[in-house]
Amino acid sequence: MCGIVGYTGRGSAARAVFRGLKALEYRGYDSVGIALMHGGRFALHKRVGRVDCIQDVQEQNGEIGIGHTRWATHGGVTEENAHPHVYQRFAVVHNGIIENYRILKEECLLRGERFSSETDSEVIAHLFEWEYRGDLLSAAQRVCRRLRGSYAIAVLCLDFPSVILCAKKDSPLLVGASVEGQFAASDLSAVARKGVTCYRMENGEFSILDKESVSFFGADGTAIEKTPVSYSLQEQDTELGGYGHYMIKEIDEIPQAVERTIRAFKREIEAVQGLKDVFRIHIVGCGTAYHSGIAAKLFAQKRGCVSTEGYLASEYRYGDQTVDANTLVIAVSQSGETADTVAAAVMAKKRGAKLLAITNVAHSTLTSYADCVLHTKAGCEVAVAATKSYNAQLAVLYSFFDAFSACRERIWKGLPDLCKKTIEASRRVKEWANQMKSAKCAYFIGRRFDYAVAMEGSLKWKEITYLPGDGLAAGELKHGTLALVDESTPVVALITDQAVADKTFNAVHEVIARGAPVYVVTSIPSYANCEGAVDTVLIPQTKEEYMPMLSVIPLQLLAYYAAVALGNDPDKPRNLAKSVTVE
Ligand code: AGP
Ligand code: GLU
Repeated sequence: MCGIVGYTGRGSAARAVFRGLKALEYRGYDSVGIALMHGGRFALHKRVGRVDCIQDVQEQNGEIGIGHTRWATHGGVTEENAHPHVYQRFAVVHNGIIENYRILKEECLLRGERFSSETDSEVIAHLFEWEYRGDLLSAAQRVCRRLRGSYAIAVLCLDFPSVILCAKKDSPLLVGASVEGQFAASDLSAVARKGVTCYRMENGEFSILDKESVSFFGADGTAIEKTPVSYSLQEQDTELGGYGHYMIKEIDEIPQAVERTIRAFKREIEAVQGLKDVFRIHIVGCGTAYHSGIAAKLFAQKRGCVSTEGYLASEYRYGDQTVDANTLVIAVSQSGETADTVAAAVMAKKRGAKLLAITNVAHSTLTSYADCVLHTKAGCEVAVAATKSYNAQLAVLYSFFDAFSACRERIWKGLPDLCKKTIEASRRVKEWANQMKSAKCAYFIGRRFDYAVAMEGSLKWKEITYLPGDGLAAGELKHGTLALVDESTPVVALITDQAVADKTFNAVHEVIARGAPVYVVTSIPSYANCEGAVDTVLIPQTKEEYMPMLSVIPLQLLAYYAAVALGNDPDKPRNLAKSVTVE
């Protein structure tokens, strides 16, 4: 996780680095820091908190600087642990995890070196000082040979007052070159702008940025030529536009997200043809993307596709499942940067599988490994809690499986409108949120497609309310969890699938009998007046396989309203980040 930035050029480094950090804040926001090099010394500014904590730094002098917005992996959230880490001549920002840092630190301590943080990253600055013999690139080669784990680093050295050295392995890093100055950053959004040529660094590569130009080097230190990334400068809509939070704005954008995604798929459909010759399909993702994969798996089964399974990317990458040339792996990721998903995709490619990436971010790391990319067109999603990207993922996955199974049916044109009506019908969950905010734990139950959505509803609930929650198959309650159900454990029941509605209703009665307050989300009018339930939201009805796109909406809103009622920031929940680029 975390975002790193570097700038060297004719402009103000403080302003360029600060601006880059603002663009990268979604990657981590527990602490922030900037190091500027000026007059033969480092000026270091670090704070616990968000990027705005150091906005006054923008007034500082200096034409070269590096910055970091942190998501702590090693060492608490303190000013000392915030990056950049400075040791003698070197200042370093690091994204990733140095897995062998203990051994390396031990070595440094034996030499009598003193550490000023508890991070794994600080060891990099110490190693640079130790390995440096006047040549920055050779020092970097020697340092990187010793590092295990993942890293994207930007390094300043007092001996080179206009140079930034960058290196990368398994954490994303881009470099931007322009007449005005050179940039480095964890993602395209922080470097791409008019007049800037962007390059994606690959594992093992180094780059040296100075005021006038950028040079790239391979792992052995020989100079290499790189092809620029072709990108279009689309204005990203990241304004709040009168909303109190991004999350509620993004829920309101679901209808457009679904509509745009379905339209875009029609243009991309040709690409699917080359992926059809497989015996099995594995859908991999994390968190919300995993949940959309689970709903899509049920959809694929309904369409009679080849064997299709959904996997958590973090398990899949170390699993023993059969993955070979007859396998199609569909990696789903809003950001396209999630380390576990990227690693699962890389593993699948190594074993000969075909790789389809479904992502909301063009030019993300995941896309660089894929045989084929299908884009969700959700638009920029700023809130950490994924909402519109889930609906858009379902739209593209469903469209894919329809095309794959040569099903004549195509995802229904009226769906965006139904999403809109569902949003309107669901506003009343604000009242549920007020009642549920003091819950000991909230349970979300359903069967089949409703179960897939129950898992997503519970994730949203936990993520931004900080209250316990669980998503359960309605039939499983009686096999254990029912022991926890009482007056203090509200149950949200999803009943949108006529074929199993009565069965879920049995579970509803079982929890009501144990005193649980029950809230029902249904699309079936005959369940709208559910006796014994506290309240019901009646959402529009469509075929049960499409219902996840609608029934998730009241659960997204419920989590949002509860988080706000509890005084939490729904856009930046504690301990989390939008893009999880560490394992
Ligand atoms: C969702 O609300 C979460 N923030 C999280 O589970 C997220 O879906 C997960 O980290 C995967 O992210 P990705 O889609 O960018 O790969
Ligand atoms: N491991 C480093 C730290 O904890 C960097 C974390 C990150 O990449 O988010 O400071």
